[in-house]
Amino acid sequence: ASTAMMGQEAKGPKVERMTVFGAGLMGAGIAQVGAQNGLKVVLSDVTDKALENGLTIISKSLARIAKKKQPDDIEGFTKAVMKNIETTTDATKAVENADLVVEAIIESLKVKRDLFGLLDKTAKESCIFASNTSSLSVKEIAESCQAARREKFAGLHFFNPMKLVEIIRTSETSEATFQALREVTVQMKKSPVSCKDTPGFIVNRLLVPYMLEAIRMVERGEATPEDVDTAMKLGAGYPMGPFELLDFVGLDTTSYISQGWAEKAEQGLISKELVQPIPMLEEMVKEGRMGRKSGKGFYDVS
Ligand code: CAA
Ligand code: NAD
Repeated sequence: ASTAMMGQEAKGPKVERMTVFGAGLMGAGIAQVGAQNGLKVVLSDVTDKALENGLTIISKSLARIAKKKQPDDIEGFTKAVMKNIETTTDATKAVENADLVVEAIIESLKVKRDLFGLLDKTAKESCIFASNTSSLSVKEIAESCQAARREKFAGLHFFNPMKLVEIIRTSETSEATFQALREVTVQMKKSPVSCKDTPGFIVNRLLVPYMLEAIRMVERGEATPEDVDTAMKLGAGYPMGPFELLDFVGLDTTSYISQGWAEKAEQGLISKELVQPIPMLEEMVKEGRMGRKSGKGFYDVS
């Protein structure tokens, strides 16, 4: 009997309806993989323009995938997936029926907390809340919710288009929540790993200091972005060099991460040297050079 019970406990509630907040680079990708793999998805953002932008990202990506998987009927493939996606700018309406909320909005603790605080009042009691934050403390985001929801709160950190998802458990995340998130990420054909609620979790704790040091290297005039990228691709086997990756991830997002970590360094949670502010990065963000999303970063991307 105890084995059966353990089996039961290990299974989380089934997720069928997912609401994604933020129709940017990440939110669009998350909505897409959900819709491609049998979930009913609601995509929500603050403006219609942002939603349109998200739908454009999704249909372009689907057309690329269809070219490989279903070249005879690209439109049919795209339509079948798009059928599973609804959009709305009304946050309260967006979570009405959700089993899972995945938040992929701007990397700001305050804005994320405001959103989850609002959703906590309107979402179903059983609804799981997850944040796609790259660098913030999941527990600090979850504090915007009541205790009952905090058990159903975790980090769900995607790396589109790659297979990995990091599931971040806070000290309050329940086993059932963790299992439900494992199951839904596997359904989305992703490979989950789990990590404690530490700055940067696994990938970014290693990757962000590496990208920041690459910028410092260029700032010090030691090498050009092109040469650093060539070196890391041909000398270390990385698929993209650090500057291609910075343009891909977004310079604004990278800057938010480094600024947030400067505070964590004050608390002794990460070493100060790794997160020292970089004038060149801040200057580029101020000039609107965000990388791929703005068409200009370390490289011109058209
Ligand atoms: N969602 C899901 N899957 C997608 C997708 C999307 N939006 N777009 C593409 N894919 C799938 C494709 O279907 C394809 O799958 P199959 O192999 O099963 O056909 C696969 O992803 C590869 O896609 P493409 O063929 O279009 O692209 P590619 O082969 O040229 O590779 C790349 C593109 C994967 C991005 C590759 O260049 C790469 O590995 N780059 C490194 C990217 C990286 O390191 N990212 C880390 C980001 S760090 C981060 O995200 C940190 C943070 O929090 C800030
Ligand atoms: P993005 O700038 O492309 O998109 C953010 C979207 O959120 C925008 O469309 C914006 O209008 C919307 N938004 C802002 N405030 C909102 C609100 N209150 N309600 C609803 N929508 C709102 O950003 P992104 O690169 O997709 O990053 C989103 C999140 O994912 C961040 O937390 C980031 O750290 C994380 N992340 C980013 C990457 C990456 O490679 N860029 C990887 C993993 C995780």
